[in-house]
Amino acid sequence: MALFILLLLPLFLHFNPTVATFDITSFGAKSNGQSDSAQPLIQAWEAACSSSSPSTIYIPTGTFLVSQARLLGPCKSNKITVQIDGTLISRSDYSEFGRKGDWIVFDHVEGVSVYGGSIDGSGGSLWACKANGHNCPDGATSLTFSNSNDILISGLTSVNSELYHIVIDGCQGVTLQGVKISAPGNSPNTDGIHVQMSTDVTVRGASIKTGDDCISVGPGTANLWIEQVSCGPGHGISIGSLGKEYQEKGVRNVTVRTTMFVGTENGLRIKTWGRPSDSFVKGVAFEHSIMQNVQHPIIIDQNYCPDERGCPDQNSGVKISQVSYNDIQGSSATEIAMSFTCSSSNPCSGIELQDVKLTYEGKIAASSCKNAIGTASGLVQPPSCL
Ligand SMILES: *[C@@H]1O[C@H](CO)[C@@H](O)[C@H](O)[C@H]1NC(C)=O
Repeated sequence: MALFILLLLPLFLHFNPTVATFDITSFGAKSNGQSDSAQPLIQAWEAACSSSSPSTIYIPTGTFLVSQARLLGPCKSNKITVQIDGTLISRSDYSEFGRKGDWIVFDHVEGVSVYGGSIDGSGGSLWACKANGHNCPDGATSLTFSNSNDILISGLTSVNSELYHIVIDGCQGVTLQGVKISAPGNSPNTDGIHVQMSTDVTVRGASIKTGDDCISVGPGTANLWIEQVSCGPGHGISIGSLGKEYQEKGVRNVTVRTTMFVGTENGLRIKTWGRPSDSFVKGVAFEHSIMQNVQHPIIIDQNYCPDERGCPDQNSGVKISQVSYNDIQGSSATEIAMSFTCSSSNPCSGIELQDVKLTYEGKIAASSCKNAIGTASGLVQPPSCL
């Protein structure tokens, strides 16, 4: 047997296609944090993308300034690795870069794996502008994957984005594992991970500290799996806002398990606009969650209407059904630890509570229900109002 394997080994080595490596420094990138390495990064990408064999783009240790990089497919190979050992940093001058809406983008790619490394969105000056209420640009998302399949993001650290840290839009088959995201609790719109119009996305083992949603789930998301994620500071994990548009793709089959929320505004939230829509949320399992001092640990809010305009009677058209909460424990920072404010025209249905134990100031917290139908089993504290 051993001899047989030994004889076969040269065959495998022979047929193993060589992996070409494109080091951005050999395209002129400088690790001084000053000279713009966008073109070297784009050229390394183009070399990898036009190669028909598997290839690696290598970003060595050091700090590389990248003004903006749109890394576009389709590519000849569906096995491209981006190995980041150093840091990519964006310009802090938001007046130029913040208007463009995105910083590093992968679009129409397949089989791309990013191993990191860090990316630093240098968002501080834009947040200061927004805090002073000046006429500021929206800012740029740090890392976007759009219209792409079979993507892995592993061990990446993203800090101080101007806007969202990571956006997955129009993708199928995306795994984010061991991602670390960090921005101050008062930094505006710095959502951690935003997923929309995408199927089969997995987020596993993430630590997310932001000024906005930890993970937000937009229209057209299906088969989303979130596991072992810690959130805080920030606004928690949110399905929505949904139902802003009348015609909108719904959200179905979402699992959120083994999560921890520390000092966040919300824990597990579903949020819809209070206006007509044909959108829906169907099949959500929230399980094994620990809350520490969370303002709204369990919340469904169908009354969202920030400018109080275009929300006749505050009736959300979004149909919410089959949402379960199982083994949710910990402390609430407000008395109402569990709140279901559903639409009067489209009540929430199939809400299931099992083994919920949430306290407020060491005592049993309270719950609040409006237009919510469902069942409770096991120990449920605060007592169910369904
Ligand atoms: C729901 O999504 C999970 C992945 O998150 C997948 O394994 C499962 O097959 C999906 N279920 C249905 C009914 O599509």
